Amino acid sequence: MKENILIDTHAHVNSEKFDQDRGKIITNAIENGVGAIINLGDTIESSKHVLELAEAYDICYAGVGVHPEEAFEMKNDDFDKLSIWAKNKKVVCIGEIGLDYYWEKDPEKRDLQKRIFIQQLDLARQLDLPVCVHNRDAHGDTMEILKKEGKGIVGVMHCYSGSLEIARELVKMGWYIGVDGPLTFKNAAKLPEIVKDIPLERILVETDCPYMAPAPMRGKRNEPAFVKFVAEKLAELKGMDFEAVKRQTTINAKSLYTRLK
Ligand code: NI
Repeated sequence: MKENILIDTHAHVNSEKFDQDRGKIITNAIENGVGAIINLGDTIESSKHVLELAEAYDICYAGVGVHPEEAFEMKNDDFDKLSIWAKNKKVVCIGEIGLDYYWEKDPEKRDLQKRIFIQQLDLARQLDLPVCVHNRDAHGDTMEILKKEGKGIVGVMHCYSGSLEIARELVKMGWYIGVDGPLTFKNAAKLPEIVKDIPLERILVETDCPYMAPAPMRGKRNEPAFVKFVAEKLAELKGMDFEAVKRQTTINAKSLYTRLK
């Protein structure tokens, strides 16, 4: 893989929103300088699908895992499936996993989210893989779990929405901060300030497509080709050349996800 490419480190090209034109979307990504797309599973079924995409397209890689919004009491059989798939060289991480208290208010279901988050952290440790973490309105519990149960594991806090303090803490722990569409929004709040503060060496660019398209595509269906708008905004905030940001974020993605080739 060349260095002068962009990597969309968090996508869902497996989404049904791409069922009509998936091949075209991948070609469009390549034509826009994207050299790798990491699709993240959020259920057992979609984890299988992202792996199939990784096998079908050179440019596609995968993460396998169960998302907090899809939390269910996972059985041995589910963990066996994830660990068998994770042995494939195109699976770069366990993800996306984590906590989502924005959509989940029921304390018992939040406990279930915590349990499967911890179990999947254990799986990542056993397999010696990094993790991709989704955290929405659950910053305290996510950090507590990472510190207690996530020892020795590195990863990315994707679609970062926490405070500057937590971002600095994550950087100290050797973690990465994932930024996407919201960085480019006019009402981006504190994210631009956080991005200016933390080292570029710890930032990953992503789309989280098909949702949250960056400006100037806001409101449209998002796709991996649009990751360049996120990188452009990052370059503007860092006062750096776009090419330099492209190169560095690609180096960052490869240092976290060592199976990217
Ligand atoms: Ni996602």
